[in-house]
Amino acid sequence: MLSVSNLSKVYASGFQALKRVNLEIRRGEIFALLGPNGAGKTTLIGIVCGVVTATEGRVVVDGHDNVRDYRAARAKIGLVPQELTTDAFESVWNAVSFSRGLFGKPPNPAHIETILKQLSLWDKKDNKIMTLSGGMKRRLLIAKALSHEPEILFLDEPTAGVDVELRRDMWELVRSLRDKGVTIILTTHYIEEAEEMADRIGVISRGEIILVEDKREIIRKLGRKQLTLHLQGKVDRLPESLAGYRLEIAPGGAELVYTYDSQSESGGIPALLRDLHEAGIEFKDLNTDQSSLEEIFVSLVREKR
Ligand SMILES: Nc1ncnc2c1ncn2[C@@H]1O[C@H](COP(=O)(O)OP(=O)(O)OP(=O)(O)O)[C@@H](O)[C@H]1O
Ligand SMILES: [Mg+2]
Repeated sequence: MLSVSNLSKVYASGFQALKRVNLEIRRGEIFALLGPNGAGKTTLIGIVCGVVTATEGRVVVDGHDNVRDYRAARAKIGLVPQELTTDAFESVWNAVSFSRGLFGKPPNPAHIETILKQLSLWDKKDNKIMTLSGGMKRRLLIAKALSHEPEILFLDEPTAGVDVELRRDMWELVRSLRDKGVTIILTTHYIEEAEEMADRIGVISRGEIILVEDKREIIRKLGRKQLTLHLQGKVDRLPESLAGYRLEIAPGGAELVYTYDSQSESGGIPALLRDLHEAGIEFKDLNTDQSSLEEIFVSLVREKR
């Protein structure tokens, strides 16, 4: 649906915000782009949507080059921008209807009504935009982006500053759009959101894509599992026979923490338990946990720094 090749951006200030980025987005997927502040997410989206010009590289939207075939490429895209910049004096209904007109689509009041209702903005349709709350303005941006029935929707931090309930509603809406065949690309700082929504995840750091992977694969490949053993007594050092294990004594000495790959089935736990027993270390309880996407993300981005 979208192909980005060798995309670089050097701003007029001389700052390089993107470094030869390559990215292929599949039709109908939800793709989450994660990265710290300033990583280049908004720049990348801006270039794809034709708001920012690339220094180098190429973007093809469903077969249309976004420079040579700008109109066709742009008509396929809906953009929910990160920043709120909307005409304060316009009414909700007009703002959304005009947006549709910008893409040369004939008026379709029924469609506008549907999206305003879906976004719980119907009772505000005659309000001036400046009288909306922050969360409502954000929903208005989504309504505008959907007004021309795009096939690919960019959401640049759609739920920043949105309350928990509304965030759930927006996730519902995004899923229902995906079910109708819309391809979705979203950026977010809420890892929980990516974990919940995305089919695939891309991580960008300092203008470079450092990882693109199926969400479940990321957790499987990069996730670590930990086994915590709650000991009967306390230990202050580990015997030589256990030196080969990634085993740590928790502060206080009453617990041992064993870290292993989530890829291997048992991670050598049976052998560890045997060796512990032989070393005279007994435990009364144990539990395991697996690293979350958030922990994986933080360690990925930190490694790059
Ligand atoms: N117009 C501009 N001129 C110069 N530098 C810019 C401009 N716009 C963005 N940058 C720089 O490019 C880098 C990437 O910015 P961008 O907005 O793409 O980051 P982001 O990943 O969207 O961050 P955030 O998570 O904070 O939204 C930043 O270092 C930023 O300061
Ligand atoms: Mg941004």
